[in-house]
Amino acid sequence: MKITSAEFVMSNSEVLKCPNSILPDYAFIGRSNVGKSSLINMLTDRKSLAKVSGKPGKTRLINHFLINKSWHLVDLPGYGYAKVSKKEKKTFQKYITAYFEKRAQLANTFVLIDVRHDPQPIDLEFLEWLGTNNVPFSIVFTKADKLKTKKLEDNIANYKMKLMETWEMLPPVFVTSSAHKIGQDEILNYIQSINEDIK
Ligand code: GTP
Ligand code: MG
Repeated sequence: MKITSAEFVMSNSEVLKCPNSILPDYAFIGRSNVGKSSLINMLTDRKSLAKVSGKPGKTRLINHFLINKSWHLVDLPGYGYAKVSKKEKKTFQKYITAYFEKRAQLANTFVLIDVRHDPQPIDLEFLEWLGTNNVPFSIVFTKADKLKTKKLEDNIANYKMKLMETWEMLPPVFVTSSAHKIGQDEILNYIQSINEDIK
């Protein structure tokens, strides 16, 4: 898929106020600082569609972008950012949960995982929650450029093994680097294939 247009539509914290349209949503979520905004910009060939930050926790709302006038890319707040207050964390959790439970347009969720780290309980728990709630998801490993090939392969194999402890079947897995523009075609083609199935 070629990106011909990408426009910001709206930000809000309430799922019921998200765009009232029949177009499918493709949501991107992960721990704070995992590289979500960078990935969104890389996928859409835009420098600053989503705001990239040195400081974690920048994305705090549900952000809808209209892509090629035919689907919505959704930038969700990062989970597991330690420096927000407990109350704030709860508020985040509430509207993220509501988004997954109520957004009928949700076609797929891309869960971003920093490929440098060992499997983290917070990510594994979130994946399990998605599975339990029948939310379709894929895994996107980020920052692949930060590891040498051998370590990269080992970490991915290790992650898959960890997932196999819980899951009978592995979800689709994508390996990406926003810095080196790796994984763009794979993810966009996957989105296109789902869009065609929905039609
Ligand atoms: P929040 O919205 O704040 O939770 O963060 P985010 O997940 O949107 O991450 P963001 O894209 O802002 O990136 C966080 C940091 O990681 C920035 O300093 C980026 O430059 C860096 N980064 C993101 N993707 C990559 C990548 O593929 N390679 C490298 N080397 N650095 C990356
Ligand atoms: Mg962000």
